Amino acid sequence: MTGRLAGRVAVVVGAGQTPGANIGNGRATAITFAREGASLVLVDRDVGRAEDTAAAIADEIGSGSAGRDARAAVAVGVDITDDDGPDRLVAVALEAFGRIDVLHNNVGVGVGAGDGPPHHLSDDAYDRIMDVNLRSMWRTCRAAVPVLRDSEHGAIVNVSSLAAVASAGNLTAYKLSKAGVNALTQNLALTNAKYGVRANAIMPGFVDTPMGVDSAAEQLGVDRDEYADRRARMVPLGRQGSAWDVANAALFLASDDAAWITGVVLPVDGGQSSKLG
Ligand SMILES: NC(=O)c1ccc[n+]([C@@H]2O[C@H](COP(=O)([O-])OP(=O)(O)OC[C@H]3O[C@@H](n4cnc5c(N)ncnc54)[C@H](O)[C@@H]3O)[C@@H](O)[C@H]2O)c1
Repeated sequence: MTGRLAGRVAVVVGAGQTPGANIGNGRATAITFAREGASLVLVDRDVGRAEDTAAAIADEIGSGSAGRDARAAVAVGVDITDDDGPDRLVAVALEAFGRIDVLHNNVGVGVGAGDGPPHHLSDDAYDRIMDVNLRSMWRTCRAAVPVLRDSEHGAIVNVSSLAAVASAGNLTAYKLSKAGVNALTQNLALTNAKYGVRANAIMPGFVDTPMGVDSAAEQLGVDRDEYADRRARMVPLGRQGSAWDVANAALFLASDDAAWITGVVLPVDGGQSSKLG
């Protein structure tokens, strides 16, 4: 452990994962933060998934070992679309650790939530996806910002998507919500800079996670591995990203290595955003 987040308290929202072949972004990021010394509040609407992440952290790092607090990872079941969801997760963090230094917003839905092209998108699907991906992220930031301002290292890392800026014709609400995440991030950065709180976003390209591959392949009715290969061939670096690629970018943006970086929307995409056609 190199300790780039030693002594910090990080809240990871969407810290569980959709079941599937590989690890998801939120879980990999939580484990990466823990490896670097952070205490974690693991938030998920499915508390069992957050508990599995806490168990993975305990397995890997060992509760109480190497001088770490036995309560280094706290799992909590909160749905961030609930009216009081954001306030509740902030209250849990304060009760457990007394402060928040890092807020990582990973929750996002799209495939499987009824998205579609603009002319085939229902009001319900639009409202649901915008609510989960954007409105709830904004409300979570609103709840956490006053606490982050008390930290000397306050940092927000929002998970957007390359879909915000690249083609995603069949994912209208997802694309709009992620474009909103980028705009929200810049606005958070500007309005909190003088309080020492940084805000940045990550735009993952094709990442081999259960949400990106397993769920999508199931929806499309195609073979998982074939679908994964198809995605890999579209990436200039010749492979899909892994959740660890996203987690490493999140760690960089959350840590003091990025102390003079705020308002950035960082593609983590194997070169996809540089590619025409
Ligand atoms: N995999 C890709 O190719 C790819 C590409 C671009 C962006 N992303 C983004 O990555 C993020 C997801 O990554 P992941 O692999 O961790 O996904 P995941 O689905 O495995 O994990 C997300 C977790 O969030 C939880 N969650 C969902 N709705 C919630 C709510 N309302 N309140 C609280 N928790 C909720 C789920 O239970 C799940 O455990 C999303 O923001 C997605 O848009 C993924």
